[in-house]
Amino acid sequence: MVDTDTDGADVCACEQCPALVESRSRIVNGVGPEDAALLFVGEAPGATEDERGEPFVGRSGTVLDDALRDAGLDRSDVRITNCVRCRPPENRDPRAAELDNCASFLDREIGRVDPDLVVTLGKVPGERLLDREVAVTREAGSVVDARIDGQGRRVLVCLHPAATLYDGSQRDAFEEAIATAADLVGVAGGGQSRLEEY
Ligand code: URA
Repeated sequence: MVDTDTDGADVCACEQCPALVESRSRIVNGVGPEDAALLFVGEAPGATEDERGEPFVGRSGTVLDDALRDAGLDRSDVRITNCVRCRPPENRDPRAAELDNCASFLDREIGRVDPDLVVTLGKVPGERLLDREVAVTREAGSVVDARIDGQGRRVLVCLHPAATLYDGSQRDAFEEAIATAADLVGVAGGGQSRLEEY
């Protein structure tokens, strides 16, 4: 069933994915400034996000917030969104069709925010936005050029914050990638963007 209604970067109503319509309590839209220099893209809302209607507010969100703070940023300085806006049942990975159904919403959000750098949190958003397989552990911290919705974009590949909860040895790589993102766009401390150097 195709029935969508959007307002800017927000999706107000959507019934395209029957399983997600069934499992969600609400649509979880992106948060943060619409002119943010940094846009973080996760996979899909989990239980806490579904309950509170905001991306990355559960345990993964705490890891992200801590890394942002260590990099000199506040959560409110950046835009945070997901590839899929409705919680999948039992927190399973979003299916390809669900990612496809939500793709135009993510494209629209990226277009409106027009960030200097997109940071992909985990394999799903990395592969979605780079349109190729991503070895996320090996590639974490790398900055690559991508075409997203016909537009050239800078993308920094990053681990999903939850990876650091399963494997504490990934914490440094995660924090380093977030620090690189802050440094590259010069948002921490209001410095200069260094993206041209890449
Ligand atoms: N994991 C995600 O990928 N997104 C969220 O919003 C929360 C957890």
